[in-house]
Amino acid sequence: MKYKLLSILAVILMFSAPVDAQRRQREYGKKAEGVALTPPMGWNSWNKFSKDINEDIFYGIADALVETGLAEAGYVYLVVDDGWTGPRDERGFVTANPETFPNGIKALADYAHAKGLKLGIYGDAGRTTCNVGYPAGSAGHEYQDAYTFASWGVDYLKYDWCGTTNINPKGAYTIMRDALYATGRPIIFSICEWGGSKPWEWAKDVGHLWRTTGDICCAFGELIHFATWSQSGVLGILDKTKPLREYAGPGHWNDPDMLEVGNGMPVNEDRAHFTMWCMLAAPLMLGNDLRDMTQETLDILTNKEVIAIDQDPLGIPGLVVKENKALGLEFWFKPFENGDWAFTILNRSEKDADYVINWADFNFTDDMSGRSTDFVRMVYSFKELWTKEEGNTAKAKAVHIPSHDVVCYRLSPMGR
Ligand code: GLA
Repeated sequence: MKYKLLSILAVILMFSAPVDAQRRQREYGKKAEGVALTPPMGWNSWNKFSKDINEDIFYGIADALVETGLAEAGYVYLVVDDGWTGPRDERGFVTANPETFPNGIKALADYAHAKGLKLGIYGDAGRTTCNVGYPAGSAGHEYQDAYTFASWGVDYLKYDWCGTTNINPKGAYTIMRDALYATGRPIIFSICEWGGSKPWEWAKDVGHLWRTTGDICCAFGELIHFATWSQSGVLGILDKTKPLREYAGPGHWNDPDMLEVGNGMPVNEDRAHFTMWCMLAAPLMLGNDLRDMTQETLDILTNKEVIAIDQDPLGIPGLVVKENKALGLEFWFKPFENGDWAFTILNRSEKDADYVINWADFNFTDDMSGRSTDFVRMVYSFKELWTKEEGNTAKAKAVHIPSHDVVCYRLSPMGR
């Protein structure tokens, strides 16, 4: 009798465990659902620390995220970028560098989780990672690595594109998408392929965000020239990302790369950079040293009214409705779910600008939301979200926009 019961139990166990795996296999073709419904927010080590990372930095940044109020403002993903891996072990499992991460990634994830944060990690679709060709790219190890990351409690994977000769981007990212899904853990999948294969055209069901360009450089201009290469600054990345608005939405975002706020640009440029990333509905990944930042930087990063532009659940990126080339101005609108509009004037030029806003000049209908500003029939109250100045659109408004800066209004229909 005892033997019979045991055999029944064994049969139940034999079939019940694989059932879940089988169910997930049948559902191949899916990415984790219910995550990144608004653009992910957090911190990533690359822009500030490059490959020179160790676990102390991450423990310190985790503390700083909470103590500064940044976590409360929404920045919850603590992402370990390139430079964390040691060699694969004899069974092919990826390991953390024992010298710089002696306690390993799981301990860091546990620490982050205990603070209400989430942990992200960096991987690569090729055989090596980008930075000095660290060996632990995931090619050929996708399921093994996805399993490892999930078992460590990883919540976010940034998956890079170095060492990928003869590998097809859509195929490679789809394999990792399926591998992550098979773990059963809801892991945000960040595609970092730099825009070469136009991931916005194929990645909606593969990842939750995709880089639109190469790496950002900490400068405001369009293209910044170095000795042997050039890199886009804030304006260059903005220009490459703005035509892609139709591809983004809840769960699938254009990623114009991580923020450089607090890394050396003047405060006006930091403010403009941050505001424009919010107008794009971009992921907001901080890239500065949060353990040592000025109050000015913190004030930019925690401006909740500007963050609300980025995080609005409608998830429709902004667009340029009008330009004034002589003054170097761009006029951007972004619809809010509740019928409000974000209205930002970006001054791209080297000179300050004085401009009179005649609201009726900005009547337009947005194809994506189907909404019209209708300034002729509608009056909106406005609030400038950096100076907090308030007023309404019943009459024209004179405005001063310093060089490389913005004014950013939230317009709310009056009498609603
Ligand atoms: C690429 C990515 C960067 C960063 C580095 C790490 O350049 O685009 O964001 O992850 O690799 O080596």
